[in-house]
Formats: sequence, structure tokens, C-alpha cells
Amino acid sequence: MKLIHSGSIYFSLLLLGLSSIASAEKAKRLPWAFEYMTNPQKGNCIACHDIPGMSGHQSNFGPSLKGVGVRWSRDELVQWVTDARVLKPDTLMPPYGTHQALEKVNPARSALSADQIKDIVDALQTWR
Ligand code: HEC
Repeated sequence: MKLIHSGSIYFSLLLLGLSSIASAEKAKRLPWAFEYMTNPQKGNCIACHDIPGMSGHQSNFGPSLKGVGVRWSRDELVQWVTDARVLKPDTLMPPYGTHQALEKVNPARSALSADQIKDIVDALQTWR
């Protein structure tokens, strides 16, 4: 009984250790997400959105991104950033993960890579 008990403690500690490694890894990537969202050469999301952690510059062209982690699931957030037209055909938000139907993009490319979008969505999910 005692053995089983201490075994489960070690197991819990191991799980705790693993999850803190995973969240440390995630935390390291959040500054990149912030960079993609604020850099005018990349996502420049702040041109249209108020985002948590930014003071001074605020835009209300689009809705504030505070609370998006509650309003939308991960898949929906990926869709918003990749191609918002799928969710809202008349959207004014640019599609970041595709160049479909953007004939004048030369060379044809998406604004952000799938990895960059993944990092951004990791950050969006923390905004609850
Ligand atoms: C040109 C302006 C513009 C830019 C730049 C922009 N968005 Fe948007 N976004 C909008 C608008 C406007 C909406 C609201 C939907 C609509 O009416 O088209 C929106 C909606 C959203 C939503 C859904 C919000 C909600 O609560 O319903 C998310 C998430 C989002 N944008 C994320 C981003 C991210 C991340 C970036 C940068 C990679 C970005 N947006 C860049 C204009 C923009």
C-alpha cells in the first residue's frame, strides 16, 4: 500500500515536471507571437485590434482581442487568422495563412507561415 502510494506521488511529480516543461516552452514562444502581432512587416494585428499587453496604441477597427480565448475554440482561432473569409465572407480582416483569391500578391505567398499562426493562436488562447 505504502509503495503504491509513494509510486503515485512520484508519478504526479513526473507529470508536474513534464507539464511545467511544456508550459515553459510555450511561454518562450509567446514573445514571438507578440512580435508577429505587433510588427508591421508581419501580422500587424494592432493596426486593427486592441490587444492585451499593449498600452498607448489602440485600434477599434476590429474587436478587442481581449477574451478571444473564451469566445472561440482553438480551431476557430486558427481559421480566423488563416482565412477569416471562411467565417465571415464580407470580413475586412486580411487572410494571413493563404493567398487564395489574392491574385495580385506577387510572389504568391501567405503573410504568415503555419508555425507563426500556431504561435499566435497559442497567445490568443491565453487571452480569457
Ligand atoms: C485590416 C484590419 C485587421 C487586421 C490587420 C487584423 N484583423 Fe482581426 N479582425 C478584423 C475585423 C474587422 C474583425 C471582425 C470581423 C469582421 O467584422 O470582419 C476581426 C476579427 C478577428 C478575430 C475574431 C474576434 C472576435 O472576438 O470575434 C480574431 C481572433 C482576430 N481578428 C485576430 C487577428 C489577428 C491575430 C491578427 C493579426 C495576425 C488580426 N486579427 C489582424 C480586422 C483585422
